[in-house]
Amino acid sequence: MLKVTDVKKAYGKFTVLEDINLEVADGEFLAIMGPSGSGKSTLINILGLLDQSYTGEYLLEDKNYQNVSDNELSRIRGDQLGFVFQNFKLLTTYNVYENIEIPLIYSKKAQNNKQELIADVIDKVGLTGKEKNRPSELSGGQQQRVAIARAIVNRPKLIIADEPTGALDSKTSKEIMDIFTKLNKAGTTVIMVTHDSEVAEYAMRTVYIRDGHLYNDEKSVKNHD
Ligand SMILES: Nc1ncnc2c1ncn2[C@@H]1O[C@H](COP(=O)(O)OP(=O)(O)OP(=O)(O)O)[C@@H](O)[C@H]1O
Ligand SMILES: [Mg+2]
Repeated sequence: MLKVTDVKKAYGKFTVLEDINLEVADGEFLAIMGPSGSGKSTLINILGLLDQSYTGEYLLEDKNYQNVSDNELSRIRGDQLGFVFQNFKLLTTYNVYENIEIPLIYSKKAQNNKQELIADVIDKVGLTGKEKNRPSELSGGQQQRVAIARAIVNRPKLIIADEPTGALDSKTSKEIMDIFTKLNKAGTTVIMVTHDSEVAEYAMRTVYIRDGHLYNDEKSVKNHD
């Protein structure tokens, strides 16, 4: 699915990420853990083609997108990737249905069954009946479900989620993780940032970021100290 080779990211003199090497296979479910400020969001923004200012190489399905125009990038993000943000990022003046519809409006994929696609993902995330509600009329867990439905409506190969359960209680977190697990079992590759080791257990593999470096297991993080 993707390959990161010797990626380095700096803001001026401040190096956020260094010597990042990571391969994610098709169908994997990967958790990324690490302390606050360690560079997790910075890394997944690169993986999600939201940040192109880094050195080293990032290949998504063997393609390098670093010199691709912004328009082209938006199209690729819309067609191939589903991004779930920590704070949901729903449009407050749009209802549930309209929020989920957005990626389909911007996509170049043929969509003659748009209503069906939307009804299908609303059902998948358990929000049938809430189509006309605005985000402010939903619970935190329900808002996160809308964000997930919006991320998957275009049937992306890769879902990237930044702390998808960060704002949720443990029962709701479990329900959200069950949705990700189902999507992964159906073949979608999932990359998820989390602070919560219980949440990370849903993933097949966990990597750790510490001081801008990436480690494959907790032991190597400890040995580094
Ligand atoms: N635009 C920016 N300019 C300068 N420094 C930045 C910028 N964005 C992020 N940083 C710094 O980069 C580092 C990594 O930030 P990042 O958001 O990736 O951390 P994180 O691991 O996702 O943390 P959290 O768990 O709190 O979300 C932080 O020290 C942050 O202050
Ligand atoms: Mg973050």
